[in-house]
Amino acid sequence: MNKKVVIVGGEGNGGVIVSCIEDNKRRFGNHEWEVAGFINDYEKEVAGYPVIGGLGTIPDLLLNTDYYFFWAIHLVGRNVLTEQLFRKANIPKDRLATIIHQSAFVAANAIIEPGVFIMANCYVGPMAQIGVCSMIMANSMIGHNIKMGPLCHCSVGSIMTGYSELGLCADLAVGSTLLAYVKVGNFATAGAASLVTKDIPDYEIHVGIPAKFLKRVRED
Ligand SMILES: CC(C)(COP(=O)(O)OP(=O)(O)OC[C@H]1O[C@@H](n2cnc3c(N)ncnc32)[C@H](O)[C@@H]1OP(=O)(O)O)[C@@H](O)C(=O)NCCC(=O)NCCS
Repeated sequence: MNKKVVIVGGEGNGGVIVSCIEDNKRRFGNHEWEVAGFINDYEKEVAGYPVIGGLGTIPDLLLNTDYYFFWAIHLVGRNVLTEQLFRKANIPKDRLATIIHQSAFVAANAIIEPGVFIMANCYVGPMAQIGVCSMIMANSMIGHNIKMGPLCHCSVGSIMTGYSELGLCADLAVGSTLLAYVKVGNFATAGAASLVTKDIPDYEIHVGIPAKFLKRVRED
């Protein structure tokens, strides 16, 4: 198959996407994706692949219909900007690459929107809804009937209990847990290793067990 994917972003998330694509090839014989290069305003090379343009070149690159795009920019604590950049890039849904590690379990009736990434050893339960360009990092447990908005980021080992919710461009930091029926609001963050027992309002960062207000995210 070997569809060409251009990764928009840097070493952090972008390097993880590359390692997933390479592992899917090497250990599972899955050749769905081939990395064509990176979009990055600052570097010449990322994760061993060439930078083929900056954010401003996306409209031109979209003219090459061989290219699919993976959105890997996610600025923890500054996601209002992440969402602005994403909207400006204006990548059509049918040009977004959905990349799933072959070791992940994804329930057959889960809804996975275009541009989603699911890394190794993740579980995505029945009736889960994962929004456009959300990233679910390794060993995360995404329970049944959850709702995840677009552009969310579930860091390594995070847990969403059944019926919990993430808003637009929200974060579950490394090792954090969201109890059933609670919601992390738009642009909000559950900090590292926190246990979220009550809703986190939009634009707020909560940490600890149980999670309490720490500060607001940057809104510029
Ligand atoms: C939410 C988060 C960004 C806050 O970190 P921060 O901005 O460095 O926090 P601050 O420096 O403002 O810390 C203020 C206080 O909160 C405490 N604190 C910060 N994060 C905490 C956490 N997750 N749990 C408990 N306390 C925490 C600090 O120790 C500090 O306490 P003090 O004032 O008594 O010294 C951080 O906890 C986090 O989750 N980072 C993201 C990790 C992650 O998943 N990255 C992606 C990897 S792929």
